[in-house]
Amino acid sequence: AKSRRGEAGAGLRPAPSCGAAVAAMAPSRAAAALRRSLLLLPTLLLALGSAGLSGYFGTKSRYEEVNPHLVRDPLSLGPSAASSRLPAACTPLQLRALLRHGTRYPTAGQIRRLGDLHSRFLRRRAAASSSSSSSSSSSSSSSSSAEAACPAVADLAAWQMWYEESLDGRLAPQGRRDMELLARRLAARFPALFAARRRLQLASSSKHRCLQSGAAFRKGLGPSLSLGTDEVEIEVNDSLMRFFDHCAKFVALVEENDAAMCQVDAFKEGPEMRKVLEKVASALCLPAEELNADLVQVAFLTCSYELAIKNVTSPWCSLFSEDDAKVLEYLNDLKQYWKRGYGYDINSRSSCILFQDIFQHLDKAVEESK
Ligand SMILES: *[C@@H]1O[C@H](CO)[C@@H](O)[C@H](O)[C@H]1NC(C)=O
Ligand SMILES: *[C@@H]1O[C@H](CO)[C@@H](O)[C@H](O)[C@H]1NC(C)=O
Repeated sequence: AKSRRGEAGAGLRPAPSCGAAVAAMAPSRAAAALRRSLLLLPTLLLALGSAGLSGYFGTKSRYEEVNPHLVRDPLSLGPSAASSRLPAACTPLQLRALLRHGTRYPTAGQIRRLGDLHSRFLRRRAAASSSSSSSSSSSSSSSSSAEAACPAVADLAAWQMWYEESLDGRLAPQGRRDMELLARRLAARFPALFAARRRLQLASSSKHRCLQSGAAFRKGLGPSLSLGTDEVEIEVNDSLMRFFDHCAKFVALVEENDAAMCQVDAFKEGPEMRKVLEKVASALCLPAEELNADLVQVAFLTCSYELAIKNVTSPWCSLFSEDDAKVLEYLNDLKQYWKRGYGYDINSRSSCILFQDIFQHLDKAVEESK
């Protein structure tokens, strides 16, 4: 696994750093274990050969994507359930859950860009059909010929823009289900943990979606706990759970440094994205100058959100081929690489406080059990 990871890392590594401002921060091969799992995920998805575009959604993939048995039975522990059972000599001592969140709505910025793209496209379509109906006696035949030229137009025109900016990254109903079912599967996997009333601790950030995820998770533990749900407190600690906001060096060198994402910006302007952009523009009957990489990316994200939140294949998906999806997956991977992963040493270092916490709690549980 180690050498495969090395290859994946090398394969993802883009051209040398493109800005003087970040040249001082040498890209590091070392990164935290959490980040490694991000790099392994696309390999797993490809290996499953999932149909259509859903294997290219990266961090917006459904949990079912990598655990297809959950589609049939959301409480299934999967094919490896029997073999992953604890050896008889092992006793589970504690559950310490460091919770992020389940499936969420797009952020306000993404929703704004989507609204922008959708209204541009509707305006363009209205202008095209009014100008062609004034020069032609039959408006229905002219609009159907426009739709033949831009096949995505009819379906997208019928699509309702239902996202509101107030949804801003909040937990979706599906996200509540994700977390509750995750907890129920965990409880089923380690019954001894609950029967013996071992110590349970849940930690969350103060983000609304994370608090709600924590509450749903706790609810999922409930039935097997036979405890009042209030008895397990959720510890809110942002310096622990949002370490990336609290690490001054990471904020200055990466988060607030425009030059840090220069490889991402270069890829957005590069030939691969250009090709996807021109294809999408022509499918939407928009001039390519009216689009940019961010708008194309938000259209692709909408395809992933509609599947994750509503379990539907949205007409936005029809704008993209599998090859386009690979380009957009790469764009997202590139951003994660430079912002969260191996790109800069401080990315992984900023998470040390969380890893220290994890290991300290493990040590403490072992110590107290002696
Ligand atoms: C948050 O977690 C950090 C790291 O474990 C710890 O030092 C700090 O005391 C915690 N803060 C609160 C308010 O619990
Ligand atoms: C999602 O949609 C598929 C196919 O349309 C359906 O078979 C499945 O039951 C749906 N899943 C949920 C959780 O509604």
